[in-house]
Amino acid sequence: MLNLFALETSCDETSAAVVRDGRVLANIIATQTRLHAEYGGVVPELATREHLRNLLPVARRALAVAGLTAADLDAVAATQGPGLPSALLVGLKAAQSLAFSLGKPFLGIHHHEAHLYSPWISGDPPQARFDQFQPSVSLIVSGGHTLLLHVKAEFQHRVLGSTVDDAAGECFDKVGKLIGLAYPAGPEVDRLAAQGNPRAWNFPRPMLHDPGDDFSFSGLKTSVRYFLEKNPAVLDDPAKLRDLCASAQAAIIDVLAAKTLRAALRLGVRCVTVSGGVACNSALRRQLASDCQRHQLELRLSEGKLSTDNAAMIAILAERKFLAGFPAGSLDAEIEPSWAM
Ligand code: KG4
Ligand code: ZN
Repeated sequence: MLNLFALETSCDETSAAVVRDGRVLANIIATQTRLHAEYGGVVPELATREHLRNLLPVARRALAVAGLTAADLDAVAATQGPGLPSALLVGLKAAQSLAFSLGKPFLGIHHHEAHLYSPWISGDPPQARFDQFQPSVSLIVSGGHTLLLHVKAEFQHRVLGSTVDDAAGECFDKVGKLIGLAYPAGPEVDRLAAQGNPRAWNFPRPMLHDPGDDFSFSGLKTSVRYFLEKNPAVLDDPAKLRDLCASAQAAIIDVLAAKTLRAALRLGVRCVTVSGGVACNSALRRQLASDCQRHQLELRLSEGKLSTDNAAMIAILAERKFLAGFPAGSLDAEIEPSWAM
């Protein structure tokens, strides 16, 4: 039996989690979205100060919820990269210091790799279900990244494609900003789109017919901007705004779903997984569910609080790697802000 503690501070969520035997005993998340909303995006200096302010309260709370003290911990992990350099430093150095003072192993975890395996955590309380693992084509969609991977076996994954410009979540956020929504706009676009007509306007589906597995979303945001310049009255009409959200959202998810399905069929896997903040999008979940059902593919979506940034996914992957015999990381290891997958 192993108690593993993890910290995640790669962007604008300060999170601490405790796991034991694949079970998430605590997953505390202090989100900074309101702080950054005023600036229309994450301000690294503010994020870092906020991580420093929140880190100990969040860590204390995670231990209290798990019913443990620091002396009960057997290993400590943290997100090592990629992410905002100064934000990563807070969690990484705190975790290494804790491991040093306890004389326990430290594990530095890749943020996207943690997202990648998060669909295998499910239930309430969340539990890792690697006994159900199978090879997959996996989509990671968040505010900073859009990646499509082939996962042949646990810890054996290969990037098939990624975005050549904006990430899918960034596109949701930028479209939302154009119509006056606060950052991060994805959830509100999702909500408005639910009552709109996705076929009201036909926005481009960038790279949909490109034979490769890469994505591009900056052109879509630009088309929405041009559309609003030509049709400014849409901004004052709530019904048309809902149609605009639904139409722009449909363009984003058509590309995400079609390219994911195409890769799954080409590679002959029986399973599709989706993770990251945009995995919360209700229309994307619906569309993938029906596409996968049509092709008899199993679909595993990361669950609610495990989709956006959280330390539970870091802790679960760290525990899995530790038990699989991966060597512990160095207490002197540096942050990896641009760590490739
Ligand atoms: O994974 P995440 O918490 O942070 C990053 O690592 O980037 O993802 C945040 C992103 C934001 O762009 C946010 O707008 C988007 O996920 N998002 C959504 C939804 N919920 C969160 N986008 C569309 N629909 C949603 N329901
Ligand atoms: Zn993330």
